[in-house]
Amino acid sequence: MKKNTLVVNGSPHGKKGVTYMLQRQFVRGAENAGAEVDEVFLNKKKISPCLGCFTCWIQTPGNCVIRDDQAELLEKLLWADIFVLATPVYVDGITGQSKVFLDRTVPLLKPEITFREDHCRHPSRRNKASKFAVISNCGFHEVDNFDSLVMHCRKFCLNMNAEYAGHLLRPHGPVLRYPEMMAGEIKKVLEAAEKAGEELVRQGRISHASMEAVSAEIVPKRAYVEAANFFWRQELEKIGQ
Ligand SMILES: Cc1cc2nc3c(=O)[nH]c(=O)nc-3n(C[C@H](O)[C@H](O)[C@H](O)COP(=O)(O)O)c2cc1C
Repeated sequence: MKKNTLVVNGSPHGKKGVTYMLQRQFVRGAENAGAEVDEVFLNKKKISPCLGCFTCWIQTPGNCVIRDDQAELLEKLLWADIFVLATPVYVDGITGQSKVFLDRTVPLLKPEITFREDHCRHPSRRNKASKFAVISNCGFHEVDNFDSLVMHCRKFCLNMNAEYAGHLLRPHGPVLRYPEMMAGEIKKVLEAAEKAGEELVRQGRISHASMEAVSAEIVPKRAYVEAANFFWRQELEKIGQ
């Protein structure tokens, strides 16, 4: 049976972003493995922040009072076997767009508090258990810049009846925009992202080898910082600063 795979991209750059460069490869791999992939771009959707009224738990169980594009996304989430959040790192976490979207998944939870792994959690209205993965990239050089984002995603899974099945984390991600510079290294990263998509569909997990290959150092730290600072100096000079 085909695996229903929902990929939600929360970058304001959508298909023009670095996150999407990884997402595109990942989706190619997932489709090669037979998945049915639905990609949603939050920069094309109108989703307002949660009002915190809990109407979705009491008066209209499972349904939010706000009438916007989130309703269609909740429906897709109900049926997804695999859910992938694709977001760059913004201020050490997910983007605001991604956070608003995740907050608005609260209608999929029930109000009572139960225990999961000895922690207080809400039961999910999703009958299906699904796999969850995150695709991300960030501007800084070190891979530990994803620590808080990964922790957040793991906790999100505890509520959502989802199993954290791995991640694609690309530090010094903007380097991917310059394939002429580090062609061999970038090719390896993109191939690993594609393999990760296949693995998630076929084996239900992304292998450590693929995760490590996606996160591999492409440019040494000092050289990267010098190149980035040169870029920003040039941008300032262009406007006479
Ligand atoms: C508002 C804002 C906050 C950011 N915060 C971080 C950060 O905390 N750490 C980091 O390494 N990069 C940070 N970045 C850099 C982005 O993660 C980086 O530019 C990334 O390549 C953008 O991905 P995209 O092209 O898919 O949107 C930030 C960028 C913006 C615009």
